[in-house]
Amino acid sequence: MYHPPPMIVLGIETSCDETGVAVYSTEKGLIADALHSQVDLHAMYGGVVPEIASRDHVRCLLPLIKQVLRESGVTRPDVIAYTAGPGLVGALMVGSGMANGLGLAWDCPVLAVHHMEGHLLAPMLEDEPPPFPFLALLVSGGHTMLIAVRGLGDYELLGTTLDDAVGEAFDKTAKLIGLGYPGGPALAALAEDGDEQAFAFPRPMLTREGFDFSFSGLKTSVMLEVRRLDESGDLQARRADVAASFQRAAVDTLVGRTLQAAASGQFDRVVVAGGVGANKLLRQEMAARFDGDVFYPRMAFCTDNGAMIAVAGALRLADAKTAAEIRAQARWALDTLTKPGATALPA
Ligand code: KG4
Ligand code: ZN
Repeated sequence: MYHPPPMIVLGIETSCDETGVAVYSTEKGLIADALHSQVDLHAMYGGVVPEIASRDHVRCLLPLIKQVLRESGVTRPDVIAYTAGPGLVGALMVGSGMANGLGLAWDCPVLAVHHMEGHLLAPMLEDEPPPFPFLALLVSGGHTMLIAVRGLGDYELLGTTLDDAVGEAFDKTAKLIGLGYPGGPALAALAEDGDEQAFAFPRPMLTREGFDFSFSGLKTSVMLEVRRLDESGDLQARRADVAASFQRAAVDTLVGRTLQAAASGQFDRVVVAGGVGANKLLRQEMAARFDGDVFYPRMAFCTDNGAMIAVAGALRLADAKTAAEIRAQARWALDTLTKPGATALPA
């Protein structure tokens, strides 16, 4: 029987504010990964500043690549996989330029990975990866999507947000109650001391047909409540209650919609991935309410990282190209992807 030789993939992620690099072996799995977070650089601006993000990727990417190569004992990978989009174009160009430059120097093929496919496939790094098919809830700072995943590259978008992404709603709510950037984890921590029934915030869309999301109504409702509390001088004392009530409403919405989509498509497996997938209440509620198996990446691989890009590259080896082509695109619809070996150009 023919056994393909093991392949070593170098993964590079630079779509937003984390520089992530990893080395993945198709035989041994993940062998090294490193991450540099820019959170401190952007914190004083209350959000990601694209120019600063690009410059910091330039500063950190090469040293991180050297570090993972040293740690893994790899001198030259067989393939380089990089995030080509969606994301901040300037930031993406740093990873794309580096990947293609190294590909040329090492004479090895290069592969453009979709950032959200990276998130979607991150649970494949775990000891018990989810078998296909499954329903995926992708929740990050830029996306809130329910996807029917029937196989690699076979993605049907069942629902998406009509306005803000859920991570964005966490971040904006956190800002309203005076928490720093990124607000999601800080809000979740503060919520632990609050009463989630203190305020009856709306669970948007749950009674509407289809599987779309909307978080702007919830955001407005929180904003009005915060304004009232501020005027009455109670805001400081009630911040944890606001955080807990908001988190409960957002999680109820995510879990409720996922259960509806799972029932409709008869899915008995759900994958939750993306930054908001690190939220403890979301994990607890999904486990408690979904009558099937729930899969997650480990906490560190919920948010942006190089390992998810490396494993996506390893699963998409058939798409690796020797002719260098620097790709960096702000928008790229996940459901335009095709099975490995038949990659369509982005819409
Ligand atoms: O996937 P990610 O690292 O970057 C994007 O692709 O957007 O997700 C970042 C988002 C941010 O909005 C952040 O506030 C949110 O994920 N997030 C959380 C938690 N950890 C990160 N939201 C709620 N609870 C958390 N524990
Ligand atoms: Zn992401």
